[in-house]
Amino acid sequence: MILGELLGEEARFDPRFATLPIAAISADSRTLKPGSLFVAMAGTRDDGLAHVAGALAAGAVAVMAERAPSPPLPPTIAFVQAANVRLALARAAARFHPRQPATVVAVTGTAGKTSVAYFTRQIWEALGLRAAYVGTLGVVAPGREVHGNLTTPDPVALHRMLDALAGAGVTHVALEASSHGLAQYRLDGVRFTAAAFTNLGRDHLDYHASMQAYLAAKLRLFAEVLDARATVVLPRGEPGRALPGVAEVLAIARARGLKTLEILASAASPLPPGGDLRAAIGMAGLAQALRFEPPIAGMRDVALPLTGIFQASNALVAAGLAIAAGGEPSAVVAALSGLKNVPGRLDLAGAKHGAGIFVDYAHKPEALDAAISALRPFVLDGGRLIVVFGAGGDRDAGKRVLMGRVAAERAELVVVTDDNPRSEVPGAIRAAILGGCPGAIEIGDRAAAIRWAIGELKHGDILLIAGKGHETGQIIGDRVLPFSDHDVVAAALAEGAP
Ligand SMILES: Nc1ncnc2c1ncn2[C@@H]1O[C@H](COP(=O)(O)OP(=O)(O)O)[C@@H](O)[C@H]1O
Ligand SMILES: [Mg+2]
Repeated sequence: MILGELLGEEARFDPRFATLPIAAISADSRTLKPGSLFVAMAGTRDDGLAHVAGALAAGAVAVMAERAPSPPLPPTIAFVQAANVRLALARAAARFHPRQPATVVAVTGTAGKTSVAYFTRQIWEALGLRAAYVGTLGVVAPGREVHGNLTTPDPVALHRMLDALAGAGVTHVALEASSHGLAQYRLDGVRFTAAAFTNLGRDHLDYHASMQAYLAAKLRLFAEVLDARATVVLPRGEPGRALPGVAEVLAIARARGLKTLEILASAASPLPPGGDLRAAIGMAGLAQALRFEPPIAGMRDVALPLTGIFQASNALVAAGLAIAAGGEPSAVVAALSGLKNVPGRLDLAGAKHGAGIFVDYAHKPEALDAAISALRPFVLDGGRLIVVFGAGGDRDAGKRVLMGRVAAERAELVVVTDDNPRSEVPGAIRAAILGGCPGAIEIGDRAAAIRWAIGELKHGDILLIAGKGHETGQIIGDRVLPFSDHDVVAAALAEGAP
């Protein structure tokens, strides 16, 4: 592609370079290929302009930056001046890799991005569409699963991937949009059909200077990245329970004349007023049941094989996205009964005497609290919520006592065990946790702890095994021993533990 086709009005350069062939775009001088446009960005630690010499040595033929490099570039090298180099990079990447699946949707919010995007892909798959997911879990596409965190990759990698997915016949993509990615203009070249907002909480404040800056980054998606024909999907608060951030997103959507689709998902009876997709959430054994009010083209009751209200709410936001993207509403809603939860998130690993055994990756105090809150309604009268957990070694030691306190306050029976002690003395980690839950049972061996807890289970109880989720190892010293909470549960149930 030539420079003049790669760049739009967001960038300026000497017209004599308009026909200069560009072989690739790169923001990293170390991996740059000859013939590339080098994009010099100001990073948090590093100024890209400091690497211009390296980029030229590697064969860059053009340099894009917000200000001119010093020393000046040789006369044969094109200088491209961009007022916002990150935005210009995103737009250039979109032109360089021009194919995009016809339907791309984004999910932003403090919590629930992975879940909503993962559910949206599953709904599309149930509708017979070729759909992909891109986010924290990696890429999931028909016949292809790549693991590794891809929560809003850099724009060149993102557009290369979208182009490849489109080339492989994928027509629908659900993407997690992190606030970092939005603040860094990584999604600006993507043509979105719809975008969802899940919620706003205090998170990532280490990166964003303030709650305002954090919200502003998320709002960019709705204010600037979405085009005017896109639909905004968002949860609707209940009377007296406004959801933080939702009013701001709605205000932007209204000001821009964007279509909106509001999701009302509530356990309250009667169902509060308002909302475009309205569902009452009820319990159904260890899973849930949705009742649509009004029914969706005749569909009224749908079983949802997921546990916990927040999962139901995420599933409905995903349904909203699929409907906003043109899915036939009754088919979308029917697809909810086939959803699988995100691996390791409130995963029903088994049951004993009807007491559910859940595996969840919660490994921080707030997450432990959230998982317990989600499971609490499933504990029957007279039943107990039992939690088995530990804390990792060589990591944030301050959270240990806090996790202990959460467990002591929120669960009826607490078992403290090991969770990747790494180089630390496991007993010392457990002792720190026990400082917050002095009444807990201590069983260092994680398999033994899980077996013991399963042995305790009676009808009406719920067991939460927290911390590992879908991990498949226990890190002791510098060795990773094969370990799976799921496998231990399955073996214990098969043997009739203890
Ligand atoms: N809608 C929600 N409301 C509140 N908390 C949620 C919601 N969805 C998810 N969570 C919490 O956030 C955790 C991470 O969920 P995930 O879908 O991975 O979100 P993200 O990708 O935004 O980090 C969950 O295990 C749960 O504790
Ligand atoms: Mg995520």
